Amino acid sequence: MSTYTLPSQVQVLPATPQLKGLMTIIRSRDTPRADFIFYADRVIRLLVEEGLNHLPVMSKTVETPTGAKYEGLDFEGRICGVSIMRAGEAMEQGLRECCRSVRIGKILIQRDEETHQPKLFYAKLPKDIDSRYVLLLDPMLATGGSAMQAVQVLLDNNVREDRIIFLNLIASKEGIDAFVERFPKIKIVAGEIDEDLNEAKYIIPGVGDFGCRYFGTD
Ligand code: URA
Repeated sequence: MSTYTLPSQVQVLPATPQLKGLMTIIRSRDTPRADFIFYADRVIRLLVEEGLNHLPVMSKTVETPTGAKYEGLDFEGRICGVSIMRAGEAMEQGLRECCRSVRIGKILIQRDEETHQPKLFYAKLPKDIDSRYVLLLDPMLATGGSAMQAVQVLLDNNVREDRIIFLNLIASKEGIDAFVERFPKIKIVAGEIDEDLNEAKYIIPGVGDFGCRYFGTD
C-alpha cells in the first residue's frame, strides 16, 4: 500500500456515510444527469460551508428573545467567488445559496493547441477583488495546470495568496502536490482525494468529465 502524506494545506471533508453515499451516486456511470446534478449540488454545498469556516471571525454578542446574552461571532472580511470555466460554474449556485448576492468572477483557461500548455482566454473579476477573500471554484483538481494558471491571474490582480480558498469535489494526489508546492499559502478544501490520473489526465476513479455530466454535453 502506498503511503501518502496529505499536505497540511489540504482539508478533506469528513468521510461520513452521507458524503460517501453522495459520492457513490455521482461517481457511478449509471447515474442519470438529473441525479448527477442534484447530488453533486449537495456535495458542493458541503464544500462551500466548510470553505467558509476558513474566513476570519470576530466575537459578537447578541441578546436572544429570552433577554439572555449569546456569545457568538461574526464574519470579518468580504468574500467573492471565482469560477474556473466551465465546470467551476456548476459550483456558483451553491456559493450563492450560502452567501446571498455574492460577487462571482470567472476565468477561462484552455489548453493551447500548439504548446499544449494551459492558456488564459478570458477573465472577468470583481473590481475590488484585491480587498476580498476568494473562494476559487473548480470541481476537479486533476493536474492542477488550469488551477495554477487561474491563481496566477488572481495574484496578478493583487489578491493575497493567503486569502484564496480553493474548493473541489475531487482532487488527485498529483494535482495537490503540484499546486501546494507552487502556492503553499492557499487552503484547499476537497470532498475526496483520488489516487491517479489516466493518460488523458482524467482523475481515476473520478467521475469522468464533470462539466459534460453536469451541463449535459458530450
Ligand atoms: N476534469 C474533469 O471533468 N474530470 C477529470 O477527471 C479531470 C478534469
